Amino acid sequence: MANIWHDEGAGAWLVEMRSTAYAFVLGDDGAALRHVHWGVAPPRDSLAGPAAVSRPQRWEPRLSLMRAQPDEYVPWGGPRYDEPSLKVDFADGTRGIEWRFAGQRVMRSGPVVTLEIDLADTAYPLQATLHYRVYDGFDVLERWATLRHRGEGAPFVVRQAHSANWWLPDRDGWRLRYLHGGWGAETQPAQARLTPGKTVLESRRGITSHQLNPWFTLDPGGTATEESGEVWSGALAWSGSWKLVFETTPAGQLHACGGWNDFDWAQRLAPGQELVTPQFAALYTAGGFGAASREWHAWQRAHVLGHGDRAVTEAPRWSPPLTERPDHDGEPALRPVLYNSWEATSFKVSEEGQVRLAQLAAPLGVECFVVDDGWFVGRDDDRAGLGDWVADPAKFPRGLGPLIERVNGLGMRFGLWMEPEMVNPDSELYRAHPDWVYHFTNRTRSEHRHQLVLNLARPDVAEWVFTTLDGILTRNHIEFVKWDMNRPFSEPGWPAEAGGNPERVWVEHVRSLYAILDALRSVHPGVDFESCCGGGGRVDLGILRRVDQVWTSDNTDAWDRVLIQEGFTQAYTPQAMMGWVTDSPNFLTGRRLPLSFRFHVAMAGSLGIGGNLLDWSDADLAEAAELVAAYKDIRPVVQRGRLFRLASVQDGPFGASEYVAGDGARVVVLGWWGPHQLGARPRWLRLAGLEPGARYRDLGTGLERWGAALMQEGIELPGGDGGDFGSALVRLVRS
Ligand code: GLA
Repeated sequence: MANIWHDEGAGAWLVEMRSTAYAFVLGDDGAALRHVHWGVAPPRDSLAGPAAVSRPQRWEPRLSLMRAQPDEYVPWGGPRYDEPSLKVDFADGTRGIEWRFAGQRVMRSGPVVTLEIDLADTAYPLQATLHYRVYDGFDVLERWATLRHRGEGAPFVVRQAHSANWWLPDRDGWRLRYLHGGWGAETQPAQARLTPGKTVLESRRGITSHQLNPWFTLDPGGTATEESGEVWSGALAWSGSWKLVFETTPAGQLHACGGWNDFDWAQRLAPGQELVTPQFAALYTAGGFGAASREWHAWQRAHVLGHGDRAVTEAPRWSPPLTERPDHDGEPALRPVLYNSWEATSFKVSEEGQVRLAQLAAPLGVECFVVDDGWFVGRDDDRAGLGDWVADPAKFPRGLGPLIERVNGLGMRFGLWMEPEMVNPDSELYRAHPDWVYHFTNRTRSEHRHQLVLNLARPDVAEWVFTTLDGILTRNHIEFVKWDMNRPFSEPGWPAEAGGNPERVWVEHVRSLYAILDALRSVHPGVDFESCCGGGGRVDLGILRRVDQVWTSDNTDAWDRVLIQEGFTQAYTPQAMMGWVTDSPNFLTGRRLPLSFRFHVAMAGSLGIGGNLLDWSDADLAEAAELVAAYKDIRPVVQRGRLFRLASVQDGPFGASEYVAGDGARVVVLGWWGPHQLGARPRWLRLAGLEPGARYRDLGTGLERWGAALMQEGIELPGGDGGDFGSALVRLVRS
C-alpha cells in the first residue's frame, strides 16, 4: 500500500511505495525541506532519534565555506549556486525567495495518495505547494508544484519553475542513459558518464521533440544491466519545450531537476492566479533497466495511458464543456488492429479508392480503418489546405458519411487524420486570420513543410480548434483521431500581447492543447486518439494521459524499427507503441524484408497495417490474415504482459523480446535478425521471468520444458540457419 508517514515531532516525512521509499525532513531553520533518502524502504522509526536516516552533509572543498544543502525544491535566493527549482521577481525589484513551512495535508483517493506541503514566502504573498503522489502497488513517485499569488497588488514574474528536484545518493561515477534521435530515427538509446558540472537535455522546439525525449535512467558506476543493478529513472509529463539538468555539485552530489524550459519563457502571476507545473515522475529499482521499464509500463497502463489528468485543475482561459470522460478502472482496453492509408495513397485519397482498400483490409482482421492526410479541401499535396477541415467535394462528393458507412458495414471502426494546430498560408483560414499564427513583427514567418503554427495561447484560436473538431466528431461517426503536429515552433511571437506577457506562449500552447484534448475526450468518449508528430516527436507522459496510443516513427522499415522500439520500450509501454506493416521495398530505405519479418516487428507493440493492399498478392493477403490472427492471439500478452528484452541489436546480430502474461500462464517471444554471417553461432536465448518449477509447452513444436531449463539453458530461435533478415514468433503456455 502506498502511504505517507509523517513524524511531526521529528519534522520528517516518509513516502512509502510498493517496495521503496522517499524521505525528507524540515531543516533546523524550520524553513527549508531537506532530502534524506530515496531507495530501499527504511523502517519508519529510523527517521527520528540519534540513528536517524540522514544524508551525509558534504562540504564544498577548499575556499568555499558553503555547506551543500540538499533542498527538496531549490528556491533561488540566498547563497545558493546550484540549478534552482524556482526563480521569481517581485514588483519592488526584489528577486529571490525566502521560505517558511506553512502546512501539510495528506489525501487518499482510491489507490492514489497525495501529500501536499505548503511553503510561503516570508515577505510576499507567494506560496508554493509541493505535491508528492504515490500509487498502491507501484514504486513510482510523481512530483510537481503549484505556485500561487495569494495577495493583491502587483503581479510576480516567474522566470523558472521546475516540477521537481531529485537528489541521488552519495555515489560516484553516475551513468546517464537517455533517448535521442531525429525524424525517422526516434528513441535511439544514448549514454554518458556524468562529470562535475551540468549535463542538460532539452527541447526548445515547442514540442517534446524527436531529438531528445524527457526520460532518463541514472545508475551509479555505470554497472547496471538489463536484469540487475540499481537504477533511478525519471520522466516528465510535458509535451512542449522542456529541460532536464543533471548537475554534479562542487560538493560532489548529483541532482536531477527540470520541467518547463526557462529559455525565452516567463509567466506573469497576477493576484489570485495559480501556476501548476507538469508532473515529474521517478522510480528506483534494484532490478536493472528491465525492471525499471516494466515498472514504467505497468504504471502507465494503470494510471497514465488515456486516463486523463485530474490533478491539474486549472481551467483554461476559454470554456470547454466540463463533463469528465468516465475513467476506466485498471487496464485500458486492448488496442485494435488498424489500417492506415498514408503510405498506400499519400494525398491521393478518394471515396472509391478508400473503399477498395477497406474491402481488402477487413478480411485481414483489421478493426479500425484510418484515412490519413489528403481528405480535405485544397489538400492535393503539402502546400495547401491545413486549417480548412472540410471534406474535399472532388474526392468525397457525398462527404465522408458514405465511406464511414461502408467501413462500419465491413465491421471496422472509422478513423481520421487531422493536424489541428497547423495552417498552410495557402488556406481560407490563414487568409481570414493571418494574425492567428505565431510571428514577430518585422521578421520572417519561417515555413516548414509549407506550414505555420497556430497560436493556441489565444483563447479565440483554442476555442476555434475545439469547436471545429467537436463539429466534425459530432457530424460524423468517427471513432479514432490521429492528431498530428508536423513542425516545431519558430518566431514564437504574439504581437498583440507586446508589452504584456507574450513569452508565456511556450507553456500556454501546451496547456491549451491539453484542455482541447481533455474536452474532446469528455464530449466524445467513444473516440480514441493517437498522438503523432511527424512520427514520434510527441511522446511523453503528458500526452500519454490524453491519448490511447502514439505513432512511433514515420520510418516503417522493420529492421530500423527494431532499435527504435528497443529505445521506446525503455520508457513507454508497448501498448502505446504503434507499428505498421508496410510495403517492400520500404519507401524510405528501399530495403526488402519478408512479410513475416515486417509483421513480427510490428507485432511487438500495437499492430497496424499501412501497405498498399491493392499491390499485395493473394498469397501475401492470406499470410497477412494468418499473422493478424496470430497477433490477436498474443495481443493481451504483448500489450499487457511483462516485457523482458532478451537480446539487443546494440550488442549483437539479433534482437529478441519476451512478454510474460500477468498471471504467468502465457509467454511470447519475438526475435529478429539482420544480415546472417556464415558460421555464426545459433541464435540462442535464455528466457526470463518464468517459474522454475513450472512446465511450459511450446505451441509450435509441442515440446514441454521446465521453466528452470528455459531460463538456464534457453531455446534456439526457430528459423534454422536461414538467411538474412529472419524473424521468429514462439508461443509457450504453462501446463
Ligand atoms: C506525418 C505523419 C505521417 C502522415 C503524414 C501526413 O508525417 O507522421 O504518418 O500522417 O504526416 O502528411
